[in-house]
Amino acid sequence: MNPAKSSSILNNEAPSHTGRDTLTVIDNRTGRQYELPITHDTIRALDLRQIKVEDSDFGMMSYDPAFTNTASCTSRITFIDGDKGILRYRGYSIEELSEKSTYLETAYLILHGELPSQTQLTEWTYHVTHHTFIHESIKKFLDGFHYDAHPMGMLISTVAALSTFYPDAKDIFNADSRRKQTYRLIGKMPTLAAFAYRHSLGMPFAYPDNDLSYTGNFLNMLFRTTELKYRPNPTLERALDVLFILHADHEQNCSSSAMRGVGSSHVDPYSATAAATAALYGPLHGGANEAVLRMLLEIGSVNNVPAYIKHVKAGEKKLMGFGHRVYKNYDPRAKIVKRIAYEVFDVMGRNPLIDIALECERIALEDEYFVTRKLYPNVDFYTGLIYQSMGFPVTMFPVLFAIPRTAGWVAQWEEMLLDQEQKIWRPRQVYLGHDVRSYIPLDRRS
Ligand code: ACO
Repeated sequence: MNPAKSSSILNNEAPSHTGRDTLTVIDNRTGRQYELPITHDTIRALDLRQIKVEDSDFGMMSYDPAFTNTASCTSRITFIDGDKGILRYRGYSIEELSEKSTYLETAYLILHGELPSQTQLTEWTYHVTHHTFIHESIKKFLDGFHYDAHPMGMLISTVAALSTFYPDAKDIFNADSRRKQTYRLIGKMPTLAAFAYRHSLGMPFAYPDNDLSYTGNFLNMLFRTTELKYRPNPTLERALDVLFILHADHEQNCSSSAMRGVGSSHVDPYSATAAATAALYGPLHGGANEAVLRMLLEIGSVNNVPAYIKHVKAGEKKLMGFGHRVYKNYDPRAKIVKRIAYEVFDVMGRNPLIDIALECERIALEDEYFVTRKLYPNVDFYTGLIYQSMGFPVTMFPVLFAIPRTAGWVAQWEEMLLDQEQKIWRPRQVYLGHDVRSYIPLDRRS
Protein backbone atom coordinates (compact mmCIF):
# COMPACT_ATOMS: atom_id res chain seq x y z
CA MET A 1 0.00 0.00 0.00
CA ASN A 2 1.12 3.55 -0.65
CA PRO A 3 2.27 4.67 2.87
CA ALA A 4 1.59 8.37 2.18
CA LYS A 5 -1.95 7.52 1.16
CA SER A 6 -2.69 5.27 4.13
CA SER A 7 -1.33 7.79 6.65
CA SER A 8 -3.39 10.63 5.17
CA ILE A 9 -6.52 8.44 5.51
CA LEU A 10 -5.63 7.72 9.13
CA ASN A 11 -5.21 11.44 9.75
CA ASN A 12 -8.67 11.97 8.26
CA GLU A 13 -7.28 14.30 5.59
CA ALA A 14 -8.35 14.20 1.96
CA PRO A 15 -6.12 11.56 0.33
CA SER A 16 -3.70 12.91 -2.30
CA HIS A 17 -4.44 11.73 -5.83
CA THR A 18 -1.69 9.45 -7.08
CA GLY A 19 -2.93 9.43 -10.69
CA ARG A 20 -3.22 5.63 -10.64
CA ASP A 21 -6.68 4.17 -11.28
CA THR A 22 -6.08 1.07 -9.21
CA LEU A 23 -7.08 -0.37 -5.87
CA THR A 24 -4.33 -1.89 -3.73
CA VAL A 25 -5.46 -4.82 -1.62
CA ILE A 26 -3.38 -6.56 1.04
CA ASP A 27 -4.47 -10.03 2.06
CA ASN A 28 -3.56 -10.17 5.75
CA ARG A 29 -3.78 -13.97 5.69
CA THR A 30 -0.74 -14.13 3.42
CA GLY A 31 0.70 -10.59 3.43
CA ARG A 32 0.42 -10.58 -0.38
CA GLN A 33 -0.47 -7.36 -2.14
CA TYR A 34 -2.67 -7.05 -5.24
CA GLU A 35 -3.33 -4.10 -7.51
CA LEU A 36 -6.79 -4.17 -9.07
CA PRO A 37 -7.75 -1.85 -11.97
CA ILE A 38 -10.56 0.65 -11.32
CA THR A 39 -12.85 1.58 -14.21
CA HIS A 40 -15.85 3.89 -13.70
CA ASP A 41 -15.28 3.71 -9.89
CA THR A 42 -15.73 -0.05 -10.12
CA ILE A 43 -13.50 -3.08 -9.70
CA ARG A 44 -14.21 -6.30 -11.53
CA ALA A 45 -15.36 -9.04 -9.16
CA LEU A 46 -13.41 -11.55 -11.24
CA ASP A 47 -10.16 -9.70 -10.43
CA LEU A 48 -10.66 -10.83 -6.82
CA ARG A 49 -10.27 -14.48 -7.85
CA GLN A 50 -6.48 -14.17 -8.00
CA ILE A 51 -6.51 -13.62 -4.21
CA LYS A 52 -5.77 -17.06 -2.74
CA VAL A 53 -4.06 -18.59 0.28
CA GLU A 54 -3.21 -21.86 -1.48
CA ASP A 55 -2.74 -22.18 -5.23
CA SER A 56 -5.47 -24.83 -5.23
CA ASP A 57 -8.02 -22.43 -3.64
CA PHE A 58 -11.01 -21.29 -5.69
CA GLY A 59 -10.08 -17.66 -5.03
CA MET A 60 -11.88 -14.76 -3.37
CA MET A 61 -15.44 -13.77 -4.27
CA SER A 62 -17.53 -10.79 -3.21
CA TYR A 63 -20.68 -11.54 -1.18
CA ASP A 64 -23.61 -9.28 -2.02
CA PRO A 65 -27.04 -10.64 -1.06
CA ALA A 66 -29.77 -8.72 -2.90
CA PHE A 67 -27.10 -7.06 -5.09
CA THR A 68 -27.08 -3.87 -3.06
CA ASN A 69 -23.64 -2.89 -4.35
CA THR A 70 -23.02 -4.96 -7.46
CA ALA A 71 -23.27 -3.69 -11.03
CA SER A 72 -24.56 -6.57 -13.17
CA CYS A 73 -23.99 -4.77 -16.46
CA THR A 74 -22.95 -1.60 -18.17
CA SER A 75 -25.90 0.31 -19.59
CA ARG A 76 -26.62 3.42 -21.64
CA ILE A 77 -30.39 3.50 -21.19
CA THR A 78 -31.44 5.06 -17.87
CA PHE A 79 -29.54 7.19 -15.37
CA ILE A 80 -30.62 7.58 -11.75
CA ASP A 81 -28.95 9.64 -9.04
CA GLY A 82 -30.85 8.44 -5.99
CA ASP A 83 -29.34 11.00 -3.61
CA LYS A 84 -30.24 13.95 -5.81
CA GLY A 85 -33.57 12.51 -7.05
CA ILE A 86 -32.57 12.53 -10.74
CA LEU A 87 -34.02 10.22 -13.40
CA ARG A 88 -33.10 10.46 -17.09
CA TYR A 89 -33.83 8.24 -20.09
CA ARG A 90 -30.99 8.34 -22.61
CA GLY A 91 -29.87 11.65 -21.07
CA TYR A 92 -33.30 13.39 -21.17
CA SER A 93 -34.78 14.37 -17.80
CA ILE A 94 -38.01 12.71 -16.71
CA GLU A 95 -39.47 16.16 -16.00
CA GLU A 96 -38.91 17.33 -19.59
CA LEU A 97 -40.11 14.08 -21.17
CA SER A 98 -43.27 13.98 -19.07
CA GLU A 99 -44.04 17.55 -20.10
CA LYS A 100 -43.13 17.45 -23.81
CA SER A 101 -43.10 13.84 -25.02
CA THR A 102 -45.63 11.05 -25.51
CA TYR A 103 -45.34 7.48 -24.30
CA LEU A 104 -44.73 6.06 -27.77
CA GLU A 105 -42.05 8.66 -28.52
CA THR A 106 -40.38 7.97 -25.15
CA ALA A 107 -40.55 4.21 -25.80
CA TYR A 108 -38.80 4.80 -29.14
CA LEU A 109 -36.14 6.88 -27.37
CA ILE A 110 -35.56 4.19 -24.75
CA LEU A 111 -35.36 1.43 -27.34
CA HIS A 112 -33.35 3.24 -30.03
CA GLY A 113 -31.21 5.63 -28.00
CA GLU A 114 -32.33 8.81 -29.81
CA LEU A 115 -35.54 10.78 -30.18
CA PRO A 116 -37.22 9.87 -33.49
CA SER A 117 -37.50 12.15 -36.52
CA GLN A 118 -41.10 12.81 -37.67
CA THR A 119 -40.79 10.02 -40.29
CA GLN A 120 -39.38 7.57 -37.73
CA LEU A 121 -42.11 8.42 -35.22
CA THR A 122 -44.87 8.01 -37.83
CA GLU A 123 -43.44 4.66 -38.91
CA TRP A 124 -42.95 3.45 -35.31
CA THR A 125 -46.48 4.49 -34.31
CA TYR A 126 -47.88 2.77 -37.41
CA HIS A 127 -46.11 -0.52 -36.64
CA VAL A 128 -46.99 -0.58 -32.94
CA THR A 129 -50.63 0.33 -33.74
CA HIS A 130 -50.83 -2.42 -36.37
CA HIS A 131 -49.64 -5.06 -33.91
CA THR A 132 -52.31 -4.49 -31.26
CA PHE A 133 -54.60 -7.36 -32.29
CA ILE A 134 -54.11 -10.73 -30.60
CA HIS A 135 -54.83 -14.18 -31.98
CA GLU A 136 -58.42 -15.27 -31.35
CA SER A 137 -57.12 -18.35 -29.53
CA ILE A 138 -55.76 -16.10 -26.77
CA LYS A 139 -59.36 -15.13 -26.06
CA LYS A 140 -60.21 -18.80 -25.55
CA PHE A 141 -57.21 -19.06 -23.29
CA LEU A 142 -58.47 -16.10 -21.20
CA ASP A 143 -61.91 -17.71 -21.00
CA GLY A 144 -60.33 -20.53 -18.98
CA PHE A 145 -59.61 -18.20 -16.05
CA HIS A 146 -62.04 -17.74 -13.16
CA TYR A 147 -63.93 -14.45 -13.24
CA ASP A 148 -61.98 -13.34 -10.11
CA ALA A 149 -58.53 -14.31 -11.42
CA HIS A 150 -55.97 -11.57 -10.73
CA PRO A 151 -55.30 -9.71 -14.01
CA MET A 152 -51.52 -9.85 -13.37
CA GLY A 153 -51.75 -13.65 -13.33
CA MET A 154 -53.69 -13.50 -16.61
CA LEU A 155 -51.16 -11.07 -18.11
CA ILE A 156 -48.16 -13.20 -17.12
CA SER A 157 -49.78 -16.30 -18.61
CA THR A 158 -50.96 -14.71 -21.85
CA VAL A 159 -47.70 -12.92 -22.59
CA ALA A 160 -45.88 -16.23 -22.05
CA ALA A 161 -48.43 -17.88 -24.37
CA LEU A 162 -47.51 -15.40 -27.14
CA SER A 163 -44.21 -17.27 -27.53
CA THR A 164 -46.18 -20.28 -28.79
CA PHE A 165 -47.88 -18.13 -31.45
CA TYR A 166 -44.64 -16.57 -32.70
CA PRO A 167 -41.96 -19.25 -32.92
CA ASP A 168 -39.92 -16.84 -35.10
CA ALA A 169 -39.21 -14.95 -31.85
CA LYS A 170 -36.59 -17.58 -30.99
CA ASP A 171 -34.36 -15.99 -33.65
CA ILE A 172 -33.07 -13.52 -31.07
CA PHE A 173 -29.81 -12.60 -32.84
CA ASN A 174 -31.71 -11.50 -35.96
CA ALA A 175 -32.30 -7.72 -35.75
CA ASP A 176 -35.41 -7.88 -37.99
CA SER A 177 -36.95 -10.54 -35.80
CA ARG A 178 -36.19 -8.54 -32.64
CA ARG A 179 -37.80 -5.45 -34.21
CA LYS A 180 -40.94 -7.43 -35.04
CA GLN A 181 -41.24 -8.88 -31.53
CA THR A 182 -40.75 -5.36 -30.13
CA TYR A 183 -43.73 -4.05 -32.15
CA ARG A 184 -45.76 -7.03 -31.03
CA LEU A 185 -44.86 -6.75 -27.36
CA ILE A 186 -45.45 -2.99 -27.08
CA GLY A 187 -48.59 -3.28 -29.24
CA LYS A 188 -50.19 -6.31 -27.60
CA MET A 189 -49.55 -5.70 -23.87
CA PRO A 190 -52.44 -3.17 -23.60
CA THR A 191 -54.73 -5.57 -25.49
CA LEU A 192 -53.87 -8.50 -23.21
CA ALA A 193 -54.35 -6.26 -20.15
CA ALA A 194 -57.68 -4.84 -21.36
CA PHE A 195 -59.00 -8.28 -22.32
CA ALA A 196 -58.03 -9.62 -18.87
CA TYR A 197 -59.98 -6.72 -17.32
CA ARG A 198 -63.05 -7.32 -19.51
CA HIS A 199 -62.92 -11.02 -18.71
CA SER A 200 -63.03 -10.28 -14.97
CA LEU A 201 -66.17 -8.18 -15.56
CA GLY A 202 -67.73 -10.78 -17.83
CA MET A 203 -67.94 -8.16 -20.57
CA PRO A 204 -67.35 -8.84 -24.27
CA PHE A 205 -63.87 -7.92 -25.46
CA ALA A 206 -63.53 -4.51 -27.13
CA TYR A 207 -61.16 -4.69 -30.10
CA PRO A 208 -58.36 -2.18 -30.74
CA ASP A 209 -59.20 1.03 -32.60
CA ASN A 210 -56.30 2.07 -34.82
CA ASP A 211 -57.55 5.67 -35.07
CA LEU A 212 -56.80 6.31 -31.41
CA SER A 213 -53.54 7.06 -29.59
CA TYR A 214 -51.75 4.34 -27.60
CA THR A 215 -53.43 5.26 -24.32
CA GLY A 216 -56.66 6.38 -26.02
CA ASN A 217 -56.98 2.95 -27.59
CA PHE A 218 -56.22 1.28 -24.25
CA LEU A 219 -59.04 3.26 -22.60
CA ASN A 220 -61.27 2.25 -25.52
CA MET A 221 -60.54 -1.47 -25.04
CA LEU A 222 -61.15 -1.14 -21.28
CA PHE A 223 -64.22 1.03 -21.05
CA ARG A 224 -66.08 1.03 -24.38
CA THR A 225 -69.66 -0.20 -24.12
CA THR A 226 -72.29 0.42 -26.81
CA GLU A 227 -70.96 3.59 -28.44
CA LEU A 228 -70.05 3.23 -32.12
CA LYS A 229 -66.90 5.28 -31.67
CA TYR A 230 -65.20 5.57 -28.27
CA ARG A 231 -63.79 9.05 -27.57
CA PRO A 232 -61.40 9.12 -24.62
CA ASN A 233 -61.46 12.12 -22.31
CA PRO A 234 -58.34 14.07 -23.41
CA THR A 235 -57.27 14.89 -19.82
CA LEU A 236 -57.47 11.23 -18.75
CA GLU A 237 -55.80 10.08 -21.98
CA ARG A 238 -52.89 12.49 -21.43
CA ALA A 239 -52.69 11.67 -17.68
CA LEU A 240 -52.35 7.97 -18.49
CA ASP A 241 -49.80 8.76 -21.20
CA VAL A 242 -47.66 10.73 -18.71
CA LEU A 243 -47.95 7.92 -16.14
CA PHE A 244 -46.78 5.53 -18.87
CA ILE A 245 -43.76 7.79 -19.58
CA LEU A 246 -42.88 7.78 -15.85
CA HIS A 247 -43.01 3.98 -15.72
CA ALA A 248 -41.20 3.25 -18.99
CA ASP A 249 -37.84 2.24 -17.49
CA HIS A 250 -35.93 2.36 -14.23
CA GLU A 251 -32.55 0.77 -14.92
CA GLN A 252 -31.61 -2.44 -13.05
CA ASN A 253 -34.68 -2.94 -10.84
CA CYS A 254 -36.05 -6.36 -9.86
CA SER A 255 -38.14 -6.91 -13.03
CA SER A 256 -35.52 -5.57 -15.47
CA SER A 257 -32.95 -7.82 -13.81
CA ALA A 258 -35.39 -10.73 -14.23
CA MET A 259 -35.73 -9.81 -17.92
CA ARG A 260 -31.97 -9.73 -18.36
CA GLY A 261 -31.32 -12.82 -16.23
CA VAL A 262 -33.97 -14.98 -17.91
CA GLY A 263 -33.12 -13.52 -21.33
CA SER A 264 -29.47 -14.41 -20.77
CA SER A 265 -30.42 -18.07 -21.31
CA HIS A 266 -31.38 -16.96 -24.86
CA VAL A 267 -35.05 -17.77 -24.40
CA ASP A 268 -37.52 -15.86 -26.63
CA PRO A 269 -38.54 -12.32 -25.48
CA TYR A 270 -42.16 -13.30 -24.65
CA SER A 271 -41.00 -15.86 -22.09
CA ALA A 272 -38.51 -13.37 -20.65
CA THR A 273 -41.23 -10.67 -20.50
CA ALA A 274 -43.50 -13.10 -18.64
CA ALA A 275 -40.70 -13.55 -16.07
CA ALA A 276 -40.23 -9.77 -15.78
CA THR A 277 -44.00 -9.30 -15.37
CA ALA A 278 -43.99 -11.93 -12.60
CA ALA A 279 -41.17 -10.06 -10.84
CA LEU A 280 -43.17 -6.84 -11.10
CA TYR A 281 -46.23 -8.48 -9.53
CA GLY A 282 -44.72 -8.59 -6.00
CA PRO A 283 -45.83 -6.01 -3.40
CA LEU A 284 -42.25 -4.81 -2.91
CA HIS A 285 -42.06 -3.82 -6.57
CA GLY A 286 -44.91 -3.07 -9.02
CA GLY A 287 -47.53 -4.51 -6.69
CA ALA A 288 -46.82 -1.64 -4.26
CA ASN A 289 -49.42 0.68 -5.85
CA GLU A 290 -52.09 -1.91 -5.09
CA ALA A 291 -50.71 -2.32 -1.56
CA VAL A 292 -50.77 1.49 -1.02
CA LEU A 293 -54.44 1.71 -1.87
CA ARG A 294 -55.31 -1.21 0.39
CA MET A 295 -53.28 0.50 3.15
CA LEU A 296 -55.10 3.83 2.70
CA LEU A 297 -58.45 1.99 2.85
CA GLU A 298 -57.29 0.19 6.00
CA ILE A 299 -56.27 3.48 7.64
CA GLY A 300 -59.75 4.74 6.76
CA SER A 301 -59.53 8.35 7.99
CA VAL A 302 -57.02 11.15 8.53
CA ASN A 303 -57.47 10.79 12.31
CA ASN A 304 -56.16 7.21 12.18
CA VAL A 305 -52.89 8.15 10.46
CA PRO A 306 -50.80 8.82 13.63
CA ALA A 307 -51.79 5.41 15.07
CA TYR A 308 -50.86 3.70 11.79
CA ILE A 309 -47.49 5.48 11.68
CA LYS A 310 -46.89 4.28 15.25
CA HIS A 311 -47.35 0.66 14.08
CA VAL A 312 -44.95 1.32 11.19
CA LYS A 313 -42.31 2.70 13.53
CA ALA A 314 -42.74 -0.31 15.82
CA GLY A 315 -41.84 -2.49 12.82
CA GLU A 316 -45.33 -4.08 12.72
CA LYS A 317 -46.30 -2.61 9.35
CA LYS A 318 -44.73 -0.86 6.38
CA LEU A 319 -45.72 2.48 5.02
CA MET A 320 -46.34 1.21 1.51
CA GLY A 321 -45.28 3.55 -1.29
CA PHE A 322 -42.43 4.85 0.87
CA GLY A 323 -38.76 4.02 0.57
CA HIS A 324 -36.66 2.94 -2.36
CA ARG A 325 -33.46 0.98 -2.84
CA VAL A 326 -31.99 3.74 -4.99
CA TYR A 327 -33.80 6.99 -4.13
CA LYS A 328 -32.71 8.45 -0.84
CA ASN A 329 -34.54 11.63 -1.75
CA TYR A 330 -38.03 12.41 -3.11
CA ASP A 331 -38.65 10.14 -6.11
CA PRO A 332 -38.83 12.64 -9.02
CA ARG A 333 -41.68 10.60 -10.52
CA ALA A 334 -43.76 10.94 -7.33
CA LYS A 335 -43.71 14.75 -7.67
CA ILE A 336 -45.11 14.54 -11.21
CA VAL A 337 -47.69 11.92 -10.21
CA LYS A 338 -48.92 14.15 -7.39
CA ARG A 339 -49.55 16.96 -9.90
CA ILE A 340 -51.38 14.64 -12.31
CA ALA A 341 -53.59 13.40 -9.47
CA TYR A 342 -55.17 16.83 -9.15
CA GLU A 343 -55.70 17.08 -12.94
CA VAL A 344 -57.55 13.76 -12.86
CA PHE A 345 -59.56 14.80 -9.78
CA ASP A 346 -60.71 17.90 -11.73
CA VAL A 347 -62.39 15.55 -14.21
CA MET A 348 -63.42 12.65 -12.01
CA GLY A 349 -63.95 14.32 -8.63
CA ARG A 350 -61.61 14.42 -5.66
CA ASN A 351 -60.59 11.02 -4.33
CA PRO A 352 -61.15 11.26 -0.55
CA LEU A 353 -58.18 8.94 0.10
CA ILE A 354 -55.86 11.77 -1.03
CA ASP A 355 -56.30 13.43 2.37
CA ILE A 356 -55.11 10.29 4.16
CA ALA A 357 -52.16 10.03 1.76
CA LEU A 358 -51.20 13.69 2.25
CA GLU A 359 -51.36 13.27 6.03
CA CYS A 360 -49.14 10.14 5.87
CA GLU A 361 -46.65 12.10 3.77
CA ARG A 362 -46.77 15.17 6.04
CA ILE A 363 -46.11 13.16 9.20
CA ALA A 364 -43.48 10.93 7.59
CA LEU A 365 -41.48 13.81 6.14
CA GLU A 366 -41.16 15.34 9.61
CA ASP A 367 -40.71 12.15 11.61
CA GLU A 368 -37.23 11.16 12.75
CA TYR A 369 -37.83 7.45 11.85
CA PHE A 370 -38.42 8.27 8.18
CA VAL A 371 -35.98 11.19 7.99
CA THR A 372 -33.00 9.23 9.33
CA ARG A 373 -33.76 6.28 7.02
CA LYS A 374 -34.28 8.66 4.08
CA LEU A 375 -37.72 7.25 3.35
CA TYR A 376 -39.64 9.42 0.87
CA PRO A 377 -42.74 8.74 -1.26
CA ASN A 378 -41.90 6.62 -4.30
CA VAL A 379 -43.75 6.56 -7.64
CA ASP A 380 -46.36 4.16 -6.32
CA PHE A 381 -47.56 6.32 -3.43
CA TYR A 382 -49.95 8.46 -5.50
CA THR A 383 -50.53 6.40 -8.66
CA GLY A 384 -53.15 4.17 -7.01
CA LEU A 385 -55.29 7.21 -6.16
CA ILE A 386 -55.27 8.27 -9.81
CA TYR A 387 -56.05 4.79 -11.09
CA GLN A 388 -58.90 4.41 -8.61
CA SER A 389 -60.35 7.77 -9.63
CA MET A 390 -60.17 6.72 -13.28
CA GLY A 391 -62.30 3.69 -12.46
CA PHE A 392 -59.71 0.91 -12.30
CA PRO A 393 -60.08 -1.82 -9.68
CA VAL A 394 -56.98 -2.22 -7.45
CA THR A 395 -56.03 -5.50 -9.08
CA MET A 396 -55.41 -3.62 -12.35
CA PHE A 397 -52.83 -1.28 -10.78
CA PRO A 398 -49.74 -3.47 -11.31
CA VAL A 399 -50.97 -4.20 -14.84
CA LEU A 400 -50.92 -0.44 -15.51
CA PHE A 401 -47.25 -0.53 -14.51
CA ALA A 402 -46.37 -3.58 -16.63
CA ILE A 403 -47.70 -2.14 -19.91
CA PRO A 404 -45.36 0.86 -20.13
CA ARG A 405 -42.43 -0.95 -18.49
CA THR A 406 -42.41 -3.35 -21.45
CA ALA A 407 -40.43 -0.74 -23.45
CA GLY A 408 -37.76 -0.70 -20.74
CA TRP A 409 -37.68 -4.48 -20.44
CA VAL A 410 -37.21 -4.94 -24.18
CA ALA A 411 -34.49 -2.26 -24.30
CA GLN A 412 -32.66 -3.86 -21.35
CA TRP A 413 -33.01 -7.31 -22.96
CA GLU A 414 -31.63 -6.16 -26.30
CA GLU A 415 -28.74 -4.29 -24.68
CA MET A 416 -27.87 -7.45 -22.74
CA LEU A 417 -28.03 -9.64 -25.88
CA LEU A 418 -25.72 -7.34 -27.86
CA ASP A 419 -23.24 -6.85 -25.02
CA GLN A 420 -20.14 -8.93 -25.83
CA GLU A 421 -19.28 -9.16 -22.12
CA GLN A 422 -22.60 -10.77 -21.13
CA LYS A 423 -23.08 -14.53 -20.79
CA ILE A 424 -25.76 -16.66 -19.18
CA TRP A 425 -26.35 -15.25 -15.68
CA ARG A 426 -25.11 -17.58 -13.06
CA PRO A 427 -24.28 -16.09 -9.64
CA ARG A 428 -22.03 -17.89 -7.14
CA GLN A 429 -22.94 -18.83 -3.58
CA VAL A 430 -21.15 -19.11 -0.27
CA TYR A 431 -22.00 -22.69 0.71
CA LEU A 432 -22.59 -23.04 4.47
CA GLY A 433 -24.38 -26.40 4.48
CA HIS A 434 -23.24 -29.85 5.59
CA ASP A 435 -19.94 -31.34 4.52
CA VAL A 436 -20.22 -34.73 2.80
CA ARG A 437 -22.06 -37.38 4.86
CA SER A 438 -23.33 -40.90 4.35
CA TYR A 439 -26.91 -41.74 3.44
CA ILE A 440 -28.88 -43.11 6.44
CA PRO A 441 -31.47 -45.80 5.62
CA LEU A 442 -35.03 -44.83 6.62
CA ASP A 443 -35.31 -47.42 9.44
CA ARG A 444 -32.20 -46.04 11.16
CA ARG A 445 -33.25 -42.37 11.20
CA SER A 446 -34.42 -40.94 14.50
N1 ACO B 1 -42.02 1.65 5.82
C1 ACO B 1 -41.35 1.56 7.00
N2 ACO B 1 -40.05 1.31 7.11
C2 ACO B 1 -39.36 1.15 5.98
C3 ACO B 1 -39.97 1.23 4.69
C4 ACO B 1 -41.35 1.50 4.65
N3 ACO B 1 -41.99 1.59 3.49
N4 ACO B 1 -39.04 1.01 3.74
C5 ACO B 1 -37.89 0.81 4.39
N5 ACO B 1 -38.08 0.89 5.74
C6 ACO B 1 -37.06 0.78 6.77
C7 ACO B 1 -36.57 -0.66 6.92
O1 ACO B 1 -37.35 -1.37 7.87
C8 ACO B 1 -35.15 -0.43 7.38
O2 ACO B 1 -35.17 -0.06 8.73
P1 ACO B 1 -34.00 -0.57 9.73
O3 ACO B 1 -32.75 0.09 9.23
O4 ACO B 1 -34.43 -0.11 11.08
O5 ACO B 1 -33.97 -2.07 9.60
C9 ACO B 1 -34.71 0.81 6.59
O6 ACO B 1 -35.92 1.52 6.34
C10 ACO B 1 -34.01 0.49 5.29
O7 ACO B 1 -34.89 -0.26 4.48
P2 ACO B 1 -34.46 -1.52 3.60
O8 ACO B 1 -35.55 -2.54 3.69
O9 ACO B 1 -33.07 -1.94 3.93
O10 ACO B 1 -34.45 -0.89 2.16
P3 ACO B 1 -34.43 -1.69 0.82
O11 ACO B 1 -33.64 -0.89 -0.12
O12 ACO B 1 -34.02 -3.10 1.02
O13 ACO B 1 -35.98 -1.73 0.41
C11 ACO B 1 -38.05 -1.18 -0.53
C12 ACO B 1 -36.55 -0.88 -0.50
C13 ACO B 1 -38.29 -2.66 -0.80
C14 ACO B 1 -38.68 -0.36 -1.66
C15 ACO B 1 -38.64 -0.79 0.85
O14 ACO B 1 -38.42 0.59 1.09
C16 ACO B 1 -40.12 -1.11 0.94
O15 ACO B 1 -40.48 -2.24 1.26
N6 ACO B 1 -41.02 -0.11 0.67
C17 ACO B 1 -42.44 -0.35 0.68
C18 ACO B 1 -42.86 -1.06 -0.63
C19 ACO B 1 -42.83 -0.13 -1.79
O16 ACO B 1 -43.32 1.00 -1.75
N7 ACO B 1 -42.27 -0.61 -2.90
C20 ACO B 1 -42.22 0.13 -4.17
C21 ACO B 1 -40.82 0.50 -4.53
S1 ACO B 1 -40.82 1.49 -5.98
C22 ACO B 1 -41.06 0.38 -7.20
O17 ACO B 1 -40.70 -0.77 -7.17
C23 ACO B 1 -41.70 0.87 -8.36
